Amino acid sequence: MSVAGKRILLIISGGIAAYKSLDLIRRLRERGAAVRPVMTAGAQQFVTPLAVGALAADRVYTDVFSREDEQDVGHIRLARECDLVIVAPATADLMAKMANGLADDLASTILLATDRPVLVAPAMNPKMWAHPATRRNVETLRADHIRFIGPNSGEMAESGEAGAGRMAEPLEIVARAETLLDDQPKPLAGRKAIVTSGPTHEPIDPVRYIANRSSGRQGHAIAAALAKLGADVALVTGPVTIPDPEGVTVVRVERAEEMLNAVLAELPADIAVMVAAVADWRVASEASEKVKKQADGVPPALQLAENPDILKTIGHHALRPKLVIGFAAETQNVEENGRAKLQRKGADFIVANDVSPATGIMGGPRNSVRIISAGGTEQWPELAKEEVAERLAALIAERTTEPAARKPR
Ligand code: C5P
Repeated sequence: MSVAGKRILLIISGGIAAYKSLDLIRRLRERGAAVRPVMTAGAQQFVTPLAVGALAADRVYTDVFSREDEQDVGHIRLARECDLVIVAPATADLMAKMANGLADDLASTILLATDRPVLVAPAMNPKMWAHPATRRNVETLRADHIRFIGPNSGEMAESGEAGAGRMAEPLEIVARAETLLDDQPKPLAGRKAIVTSGPTHEPIDPVRYIANRSSGRQGHAIAAALAKLGADVALVTGPVTIPDPEGVTVVRVERAEEMLNAVLAELPADIAVMVAAVADWRVASEASEKVKKQADGVPPALQLAENPDILKTIGHHALRPKLVIGFAAETQNVEENGRAKLQRKGADFIVANDVSPATGIMGGPRNSVRIISAGGTEQWPELAKEEVAERLAALIAERTTEPAARKPR
């Protein structure tokens, strides 16, 4: 997978994140891609065409009515003479134009005229991203096969507000571009997948929490494997120390309730793979100050409350993905417990494994799983977690593409 030798048309629209697009140009070029930049009028308020052109080593196209530009390449050629169109940052306004087929400047005209894959990296205030109008536009664009990367969660550059709205980092965009330009077969192209991964942290007080030994390795590997097959993957992860997988949108959460909300916000989807080791319980009332030792030496009693079951919620949801897969980490009666979960949680498959400490599976690099479904049980040999992920992604692709999407002979 590489962008070397590929021609990328980079559309920069007007947001503060435009400064990151300068770095994006560098990253793409140092990997051997040719970058042709287009800037909206808004973008030019944030970064100068001079800086963009210098980094791209190309001229910058800004005006649909420029005689010079039209004589040079013309907007239709601009739209077609590339392997990939990247829109970074994409403002709410430009996305609204795209969703409605408006073409009132060079950027929107190119986006309407192009027949190339389009990757959009939104950047906006979290309230604008969450607005029903933007949600509708994103759905429309997804249905039009527009790919998204981000936005990520975090603090906004201009307002300091927190939430989803930050543009994906340049290297994340490069990784997604590499995946999109990869010529491998993409049986999951156009399918949306939600993957949960890692542990959850359930706070006791501002400094302490309840957690578990999950590393996130298996869930992250599954997210990467699905992305490799072309799926548009949202990875909702608890706190982990491993790197983000390439080519997926990462949503970071801490507690089970946040994880559930993040997963629900990603619906509708075609595929859900719930790999996270979600804490079954949280502390009923989190202390707002650090809990102190008592003079009499009596330890505090922790009152627990049950957490929402994310897999079960998704398995019985009105917008249930076509394929719902759960994991069952067991220390005994693996088959029996796994099969019971299939029913109870409304899953199509349960990937069951024995996580007794002696197996070293929890947090380790390898896994030994069996796939439990209504049709029976299949035991897989012990494999690296990446291999388990690849086999599972292949199984998902097989299931997702049959029978409706299978071409009639
Ligand atoms: O019931 P148990 O925790 O063993 O079920 C494991 C499966 O359910 C995993 O797929 C896990 O991600 C999911 N799960 C969940 N929410 C919970 C507990 C488990 O999604 N609160």
